[in-house]
Amino acid sequence: MEKTAKIIIDGKTYELPIILGSEGEKAIDIRTLRQKTGYITYDPGYGSTGSCKSSITYMDGEKGILRHRGIPIEKLAAHSTFVETSYLVINGQLPNEDELVNIRETLNDNSLVHEDMQIFFQSFPRNSHPMGILSAMVNTMRSFYPDLDTTEEEIDKTMIRLLSKVRTMAAMSYKISRGHKVVYPRSDYSYCANFLNMMFDNPVKPYKIDSELVRALNVFWILHADHEQNCSTSAVRVVGSGRVNVYATISAGIAALWGPLHGGANQSVIHMLMDIQKNDGDITTAIKKAKDKNDPFRLMGFGHRVYKTYDPRAKIMKKLCHKLLKRLKIDDPLLHLAMKLEKVALKDEYFVDHNLYPNVDFYSGIFLRTIGIPLNMFTVMFAIGRLPGWISQWKESMDDPHWRISRPRQIYSGETKRGYIPLSKR
Ligand code: SDX
Repeated sequence: MEKTAKIIIDGKTYELPIILGSEGEKAIDIRTLRQKTGYITYDPGYGSTGSCKSSITYMDGEKGILRHRGIPIEKLAAHSTFVETSYLVINGQLPNEDELVNIRETLNDNSLVHEDMQIFFQSFPRNSHPMGILSAMVNTMRSFYPDLDTTEEEIDKTMIRLLSKVRTMAAMSYKISRGHKVVYPRSDYSYCANFLNMMFDNPVKPYKIDSELVRALNVFWILHADHEQNCSTSAVRVVGSGRVNVYATISAGIAALWGPLHGGANQSVIHMLMDIQKNDGDITTAIKKAKDKNDPFRLMGFGHRVYKTYDPRAKIMKKLCHKLLKRLKIDDPLLHLAMKLEKVALKDEYFVDHNLYPNVDFYSGIFLRTIGIPLNMFTVMFAIGRLPGWISQWKESMDDPHWRISRPRQIYSGETKRGYIPLSKR
């Protein structure tokens, strides 16, 4: 294979190095393009642009492959826990027995949040969106935990605080928003069991830990752990490149995830299914609207920038929904509707021609409904799952000797030079 790419501009040939990834991905290194040719590249949305080299996650969009540090998502979903997968994503290897015990204990030791944080939660208007609260409160962590990210030890401590306290804050925010008593984490509960208990335990009806629900929540969060350079991870890398503290960096990732085209889609899917349900289950109209160029309606939970086949996470999520609904003896009409919608869409030439398949968000909302998570917290659940990925990607960028502040160029398309017209003459 060629070691360089040749481009001819104004009759002159320029050579640019070719970079090869460990899975055979190829890139043209254009770092010297402007200096050599005076030209820049143009790629709104970065569909053909690599922002970095990374060894955390590998995706093959054509084959529907997703691996974290080389381990297939299917294996992690079947055998791992969210804490173990978080360790793998951040540290590069699966933990041994001692390392696993240590991270579990350290997460539990750091699971409390400063009591004064409750004052902040109580001050938000009751109808505030939990994603806005979470982004604000993660940013506020900088004030409560100022020993940050200068030494390796501080960085490790800060990463643990984020992984453990964000989960506690999410549950605390939910309790306070409902005017209920805050439930504290317990050292005898696992990461996921603690979250469920903090969310649903109450003085009237103590919450009973269901091991299958805990297992299912582990799988849900494993499926969200990282996803290479998606919108929110790119936001984390861009904001982090200015060398701001990691809490502000993660807060930016949460904000980016909130959008309905990104992590907010899991909430939008349920709204879409409920609308179809209200419209007598009329799937045909929904499909028609989704295909209509003049209609801004999109089939939420469908399509992906990278996957041009079924999202491997959606396959696992779909099975998880079936298993859990059966276990809990719940017959959710929205699941039947979602499956019907998927069946019709995957037979429609528009969706086939556009390579539009269900993505991770299509079934995740049905799972979250089943375990009792309120609709406006669905994307918060995605954010908790994505924390190890954001943290790992941030750390990888900070450790990259070639990492510079992110500052893309542009093609100016505005007015050329003109005079200043005094107000009296306008
Ligand atoms: C996540 O990047 C990641 O890895 C994200 C994520 C992660 O784990 O971090 O996987 C999580 O964000 C999943 C995606 C959740 N979002 C949705 O489900 C929202 C619905 N999906 C679409 O808005 C869209 O598919 C995106 C945003 C996901 C991807 O957008 P792209 O890659 O910019 O594609 P596009 O909008 O340019 O669409 C290409 C074509 C267009 O048609 P043409 O103009 O070329 O004829 O496909 C059409 C679009 O109209 N299209 C859809 C569609 N998605 C794309 N048409 C109808 N319904 C859809 N859902």
